[in-house]
Amino acid sequence: MEKTVKLNNGVEMPVVGYGVFRIPEDETKKVVGEALDTGYRLIDTAAGYLNEKAVGQVINDSSVLRDQIFLTTKLWVQDYAGDNAEKAIDGALKRLDQDYIDLLLLHQPMGDYYNAWCALEKAQKAGNVRAIGVSNFESYQVADLIVHNEIAPAVNQIEINPLNPENDNINWLKESNIVPEAWGPMGQAANGIFTNPVLTEIAKNHHKTVGEVMLRWNLQRGVVVIPKSVHEARIKENFDVFDFELTPDEMKEIDALDKDKRYFTMSLEAQKSAFSSFKPAD
Ligand SMILES: NC(=O)c1ccc[n+]([C@@H]2O[C@H](COP(=O)([O-])OP(=O)(O)OC[C@H]3O[C@@H](n4cnc5c(N)ncnc54)[C@H](OP(=O)(O)O)[C@@H]3O)[C@@H](O)[C@H]2O)c1
Repeated sequence: MEKTVKLNNGVEMPVVGYGVFRIPEDETKKVVGEALDTGYRLIDTAAGYLNEKAVGQVINDSSVLRDQIFLTTKLWVQDYAGDNAEKAIDGALKRLDQDYIDLLLLHQPMGDYYNAWCALEKAQKAGNVRAIGVSNFESYQVADLIVHNEIAPAVNQIEINPLNPENDNINWLKESNIVPEAWGPMGQAANGIFTNPVLTEIAKNHHKTVGEVMLRWNLQRGVVVIPKSVHEARIKENFDVFDFELTPDEMKEIDALDKDKRYFTMSLEAQKSAFSSFKPAD
């Protein structure tokens, strides 16, 4: 299996990355360092994770060359409107202390994301960003962006795990030459996913772990994965997914776990708070 995928603008993106959601800034340095030492070359952060500074510092201090690392970050909803979007891109570059970002995503399809998309296009043309994409967008929203703008999103990062395989969305994205990327690729360790009997049996057959099986299943469907762990042993385990192959029958067994349900939901109150008051520190 190839360890990178070519985006629709020719940029190469690793197929396994390391996500840093909910990792406090002080811990981020340690774990991103461990991830780079393990061999991860994609790091996924966001303005909303409040740890961009630490991610940038580790990258700058690492012995791994910058051009070997693929750095993703995301703009938050409050920064979409007016000239906020361009300022937010400058802010991200400053917090990350980088000359460029490899992949810049719009975190949520809310607010004035048209305006934000135009700012992303401008940043890509200026060379501040190598590729641009979206996250949590429905396919019709991605289509809308493509029809009415110059540059098509290279990636859509969405919630994908064996209990929520998003088959239709993935097929549509692949047909549209957009790379599907799974956030929460291990189901955020919820809903008993790590003790699921089907996944446990398949893992046993391959002398692998349930986590590795979940990640491999996505990779074999052409989906990029960005697992998160703060434990070094798991960081290593989650990267050890290139030495086995699930059979077509095993892929079907995992597909059949589909509960057709997205697990990540936020109450209206939580959304009001998250989408109206957040501001990343400069
Ligand atoms: N675009 C978006 O809206 C969005 C939303 C959510 C996430 N994301 C991105 O996607 C990344 C991954 O998603 P996620 O962090 O939500 O969920 P995830 O990677 O599916 O699961 C993380 C959970 O699984 C546990 N875990 C990790 N490896 C394990 C293993 N080998 N065995 C057992 N448990 C394991 C972790 O615990 P420990 O840390 O204790 O090991 C943590 O509780 C994020 O870090 C972020 O970069 C994006």
